[in-house]
Formats: sequence, structure tokens, C-alpha cells
Amino acid sequence: MQDFKGRTAVVTGAASGIGRALAERFGSAGMRVVLADVEEAPLREAEESLLERGVETIAVRTDVRKLESIEELHARAIEAFGKVHVLCNNAGVGSGGLTWQTANTDWEWVLGVNLWGVINGVRSFLPGMLEHGEEGHIVNTASMAGMVAGPFMGPYNVSKFGVVAFSETLFHELKLTGAKIGVSVLCPGWVNTRIGDSSRNRPEELPAAPLVPSEGGPQMQDVMRNLLASGMPPAELAEIVLRSVEERRFYILTHPDMKDAIRARFDAILEERDPGSTGFM
Ligand SMILES: NC(=O)c1ccc[n+]([C@@H]2O[C@H](COP(=O)([O-])OP(=O)(O)OC[C@H]3O[C@@H](n4cnc5c(N)ncnc54)[C@H](O)[C@@H]3O)[C@@H](O)[C@H]2O)c1
Repeated sequence: MQDFKGRTAVVTGAASGIGRALAERFGSAGMRVVLADVEEAPLREAEESLLERGVETIAVRTDVRKLESIEELHARAIEAFGKVHVLCNNAGVGSGGLTWQTANTDWEWVLGVNLWGVINGVRSFLPGMLEHGEEGHIVNTASMAGMVAGPFMGPYNVSKFGVVAFSETLFHELKLTGAKIGVSVLCPGWVNTRIGDSSRNRPEELPAAPLVPSEGGPQMQDVMRNLLASGMPPAELAEIVLRSVEERRFYILTHPDMKDAIRARFDAILEERDPGSTGFM
């Protein structure tokens, strides 16, 4: 997709981190931007900041886990701007712990946001994007955790492998049907965002189970926070995403130093060896 000016981008998880940076970057490329997030106060703050920069923007409180909420987002986007050209299914949360100690509420929450959020986004937006016939693009945020599965992140890894599989399927289907809509799967390594504090948006109906000492809960969280704090600035990542959408690149691997881990995984599979260390967890 080459032409961004006057077109419309919808970004989920747009109140913070990667989503906010994507919204800012697409806005500065001349797009109208629809910001969607479950956290109201930072969502309004992001909206004001984009409006101050002269970007045509609306913000819609959205829970991506729920189809009816994304359908409402779609209706609001169409009402405001007529058509949608870029959809970033980006909202995501993380939780940690040993797989066999992970509560069902963790599985439901993480899969609900990270995987169902992407499914709901595509179900609600893609038919209209195909119908208007103009060029467009979908960016699904997975992770390096969708390429290699490290320990202590069962629901997160499963959700991100799911996003990669879903996106690859979509890629083939869009190609086979000659659609003008491209798709990318974004697989970053560490990025300096608030994902380590995901529980701030945890729904009441899916409470966290108390941490079991063997999960290494607080220590593990400190390690994660340090890795995130030393991660890539979100604005740098957003620049890579914009260029990838321009080039219609499917796999967006923002951290080239992590490619060895992917290569090692596929070598182990093909040689039927045990999985090696992921190199980043
Ligand atoms: N930060 C990293 O190192 C990293 C690496 C790889 C992939 N990712 C992925 O990037 C995406 C963005 O995360 P981030 O790192 O910017 O974290 P972040 O916490 O800064 O931003 C995530 C946003 O998603 C929103 N959100 C959470 N639940 C939601 C829901 N149910 N509906 C709508 N919005 C919801 C949050 O309110 C928040 O604004 C996620 O999918 C994450 O898994 C992050």
C-alpha cells in the first residue's frame, strides 16, 4: 500500500506502547485514525494528543475480546470516516507462570485479548475493506513468542502462535482471491512499553489466581520489566511497520538478532531434536 493520505487506519490497543506509536505514525503519514482501547483515560489522552497534532481522530472504548464491541468500533469508524484502509489488530496482554499452574482465567483472558481480538477484528472489518475495492492492509501483532515458545508464558505463546497461523492462513486466502488487501504479522522482540503491567486492564470476571511460590512470580516480573525497559522504542518499531505496509511485507521481524532463535527452532524440528533455548527467555 503506497497511498496513506486521507485514508483511514484503525488501531486497537492504541492508548499505550506499540499501538499508540502506530497511531501516531499513521497519523503523521496523513491518515485519519480511529483509536481503540479498553483503558479509557489514556485513550482520551492519546486522542487529544493526535488532535493537537492536526490528525483527524476519533477514540472508541473497545474490548477486543468481545465481537459486539469490535462491531460497534467498526460502525463508529464507518460513521466517522466512511471507509477503513488499514487495520492494526494490536491490543495484547501477558501473564506468567508454569503452564500446569496457570489458571483457566489466565488462559481465557490472554487468549481472549491476543487471539480472539485478532479474529474479531478481521471478522468485523475485512468484509467492508474488501467491498470498497481500494488498497488496504491488515497488521496483526504477534511476537517473537509466536515464532519460538519459551518457558513461563504458556497462554501468551499459544495466543501468539495462533496469531501467526491465523495471519498465514489469511495471507493465502487474500492472495488466492486476488484481494487488494495485504496482511502482515508483526513479530517484535522486546519493546519498551507497559505490557509488563497488563493486569491494569484485567476484567473483573477473569480474576488472577494467587501466585504460587514455585512460579517465581515477583522475580520473573522484575526480569521481564528490565528486558522491556531496555527494549526498542515504540516509535522506531512503528517506522518499521509503516515501511513494511508500503512494501507489502508479510513477516515483520523487527529484531534481526533474534532470527537465530527461529532458525534453531526449525533446525531442531527438521532434525527431530529437542527444542533448544529460545535465546531470549
Ligand atoms: N512490548 C513488547 O516487548 C512486545 C513484544 C512483542 C509483542 N508485543 C505485543 O504488542 C502488542 C501491544 O502491546 P504493548 O507492548 O504496546 O503493551 P501496552 O500494555 O503498552 O499496550 C497494550 C494496550 O492494549 C490495551 N488492551 C488490553 N486489553 C485490551 C482489550 N481487551 N481490548 C482493547 N484493548 C486492550 C491496553 O489497555 C494497552 O493500551 C501486544 O499484542 C503485545 O503482545 C509486545
